Amino acid sequence: MASKQDISRVIESTDIVALVSEYVNLEKNGKNYKGLCPFHHEDTPSFIVNQEKKIAHCFGCGGGGNPISFLMQIENIDFNTALQKLAKRNGITLSEEVQTKESNTLTKYYKIMQIAKSFYIKNLENTDYGLKALQYLHKRGLDDETIKVFGIGLAPNQMDSLYQVLKESNFLELDCYDVGLIDKNDKGYYDFFIKRIMFPIHDENSNVIGFSARYFEQDKNQPKYINSKEGILFRKGEVLFNLNLAKGEILKKKRVILHEGQMDVIASYRSGLKESICTMGTAISLRQALLLKKYTTNVVICYDGDKAGINASLKAIKIFKQAGFNIQLVLLPDGMDPDEYVLKYGTDAYYNYFENNKCDALKYTFKQAILNKDLSDALVVDNIKNQIFELLNQENSSTKEEEYLAELSKVLGNSVEAIKNDYQKYCNLYPTKNYVDNYEWLEKKEEDLSSKSTVEFNNYEIRLFMYAKSSREKAMYIDHFLNDRFEAISKKNMDIWMCLINVYYERYQEFNEEKFVQLLDEDSKLYYRSIIEYLHNDSTPYTDEDLNACLKKLDEKKYDRKNEKIDLSIKKSSNAEEIFDLILKKFKNKKIKEDLKKMRRK
Ligand code: CTP
Ligand code: MN
Repeated sequence: MASKQDISRVIESTDIVALVSEYVNLEKNGKNYKGLCPFHHEDTPSFIVNQEKKIAHCFGCGGGGNPISFLMQIENIDFNTALQKLAKRNGITLSEEVQTKESNTLTKYYKIMQIAKSFYIKNLENTDYGLKALQYLHKRGLDDETIKVFGIGLAPNQMDSLYQVLKESNFLELDCYDVGLIDKNDKGYYDFFIKRIMFPIHDENSNVIGFSARYFEQDKNQPKYINSKEGILFRKGEVLFNLNLAKGEILKKKRVILHEGQMDVIASYRSGLKESICTMGTAISLRQALLLKKYTTNVVICYDGDKAGINASLKAIKIFKQAGFNIQLVLLPDGMDPDEYVLKYGTDAYYNYFENNKCDALKYTFKQAILNKDLSDALVVDNIKNQIFELLNQENSSTKEEEYLAELSKVLGNSVEAIKNDYQKYCNLYPTKNYVDNYEWLEKKEEDLSSKSTVEFNNYEIRLFMYAKSSREKAMYIDHFLNDRFEAISKKNMDIWMCLINVYYERYQEFNEEKFVQLLDEDSKLYYRSIIEYLHNDSTPYTDEDLNACLKKLDEKKYDRKNEKIDLSIKKSSNAEEIFDLILKKFKNKKIKEDLKKMRRK
């Protein structure tokens, strides 16, 4: 625990007006400052900040308090973290005990990353090779100010220059390896990134947690971007690029803009849309959407205007709906991405286009669902209906229902009654989803939906349901196999599986979708529905061979799961020996998994 002196020193030394201003637009009001409360929705300001008393207080909702409690609420962090952040901000050293062991390990990693970031920046600024990279960045429209704001750097054209620097700074090789900056082969250590423009990636508290690295000299054999490998600091499924710089702006503007890539975020930023963020080349996850929910429930999705971008947008709509967001979209013309648009037409034109072409999620989905579709194909029509019904069902607005069902009947050439009938059936089958309302919810359901359950991983696991549905006999066959592989299956899938085997097939011989869905609890219903939807788009044929392949994959997955658990222990532990033992265990599991994989291929 922190001492009383520590706490009062930190409070006393904080410029609370400056602190709050990072999140709220404040205006002077007599002795105080005044602004719109960041903790509840209001149109007239009742959030008061007093510099002398070091207090920020909302007379509307009672939110706020001293600098520490303000920071705890607005950043959704615990007391010690808030205290440490403020101490750091004010240049105060806290007494030892406050710093937890875990934060010591992390602090060490952050330090290494910070040094790497500075190293890359120096290389961009002060070398001949850097000049070339700067020219490239300038050509893409980035001025020196922007380059600085985003901390862009350059990994030099040398095998181990960063490694040498880190070694000089007395960091352990293993630590530098853990954070993904160096790699090893039989000749020794070498830099993970070379000859690339380096975009540092920060967590929401501005700690450097990884890099995204772009080649700038054409190199056909190399991927355009390389990101830091997954590890303790960097988890692609959780990272949101630029959230650290954007969060204040997100609160002020009460919305976040989601792009596909960091060059788009930078283009948006240059155009005055500083509330922009992106994921790292992955689809947005529910986990990420919920992270954003700390700041706002309004999102504008502006992905590339090409086919891939549109498909990704439709997926993102579903995720954000699930998280309870209001969603708008901007579709750029001619398949362009924001960065291309800005380069071609300039920042002002982009800003105007963006603000004048926002379209709500339903309208967007409707337009895309019917665009260039063969309406004589019954399957296609079913798909269109389902897409629209799903969103309508969630929207819960009778005016919108009227409007879109009528529109749908026009497009499909059915009577309004028939469409309404279909919609009613759909709603009965899939009662409205309760949206997920916070991050803790997800933590509780840890095993599922989120980062770990990538589509690839889910695929073979959930395909098993399709086999099990085809006959009771197959279901029992799979269940027998699953018996000693329970840990390979995510909890969500397991819940549904238990219901299928132990409840449904206990009562019925034949599978019936409607009867089965009725047996599921609300959460599982929602999840089951997303499985079925996902499998609709999966065109792999169902065969006995594939069934066995799916089962064998579960065997391998068991070891991944084990290692995920070990990873958690490693993250928690600060004892080097213990960590070493855990790492050995991990290697062993990996080896077993590789062997299984080889056997499967044979
Ligand atoms: N990405 C990645 N790995 C790749 C390609 C892309 O991780 N091989 C990620 C990067 O974060 C990138 C984002 O996906 O920012 C979008 O990729 P893409 O649309 O291909 O690139 P652009 O954003 O157009 O990048 P640029 O403008 O630099 O060409
Ligand atoms: Mn681009």
